[in-house]
Amino acid sequence: MRKGIILSGGMGTRLYPCTEVISKQLLPVYDKPLVYYPLSTLMLAGIRDIMIINSPNDSDPFQRLLKDGSQFGLNITYSVQHEPRGIAECFRIAEKWIGDDDVALILGDNIFYGNDLINRFNRATWNTSGATLFAYHVNDPERFGVLELNEFNDPIDVHEKPKDPPSSYAVTGLYFYDNKVVDYAYQISPSARGELEITDINKLYMKNHDCKVEFLNRGIAWIDTGTFESLSEASTFVGTVQRRTGMMIACPEEIAFKQSWITEETLLKSAEQYKKSDYGKYLFKIARGF
Ligand code: DAU
Repeated sequence: MRKGIILSGGMGTRLYPCTEVISKQLLPVYDKPLVYYPLSTLMLAGIRDIMIINSPNDSDPFQRLLKDGSQFGLNITYSVQHEPRGIAECFRIAEKWIGDDDVALILGDNIFYGNDLINRFNRATWNTSGATLFAYHVNDPERFGVLELNEFNDPIDVHEKPKDPPSSYAVTGLYFYDNKVVDYAYQISPSARGELEITDINKLYMKNHDCKVEFLNRGIAWIDTGTFESLSEASTFVGTVQRRTGMMIACPEEIAFKQSWITEETLLKSAEQYKKSDYGKYLFKIARGF
């Protein structure tokens, strides 16, 4: 079985004062909180056991919003990262909960959208040995973890925010790992910036020739909403697509209903709760089979 972690810690200091009293992942991206997008991504990968890791002050609002996950046909558990000691720390925090299972990690500020994603997620979900990373061609690779490729375009290494990027392929914030990831999280030590780097875990998988990479092509959108510009771009993107198609991006109730994880009664309960908003009206439409 594969479980999923949404890492929603960090202080969001780049977005102060907006994130002084509210987590970045609860800010709106167009018409829903940012955390709905990574949550939907895990759901599209068929993952129903999800742990949300947040910073100590954010536990209450996250739990009030997402509850135990049953309204989405999920089982959501919560845990706390006391200090932002690096992305890879999440596997130490979640060690007991992960148990013997495989795990996917998604950063709480990453948005994925595109029609071929589900096939790619399925491949990663069924790959129960090693790691699967998702790479995306970007204009500014120095802001990310970056792949180094050999002459056959096979990934041979990954570098965190390199000054001189070896390729234009960023490693996105969605990672599928087998159970070895927990051991690896204890094998690495903090980097020069004092963080347990996810890139160091990926380096270990690559060194052991145990790492697959899915290259996300032009038909797929990936937005890392770390800045006001990217947050606003994401809102514009979601609004534009939704108005044009009449279909929502990242509506967890819709994903759950279409996969038969929730009954019509559960869907209608959420629709009733949100009936004054367009979100609630959309849920009524889904229940009518539109
Ligand atoms: O978005 C993809 C990139 O994410 C990867 O290409 C990089 O390899 C990876 O290191 C990461 O880079 P960022 O610069 O985007 O990481 P950042 O420190 O901004 O953290 C990403 C999210 O993870 C952010 O929403 C806060 C959360 N976080 C981060 C750290 C360091 C935590 O919850 N706890 C932490 O300790």
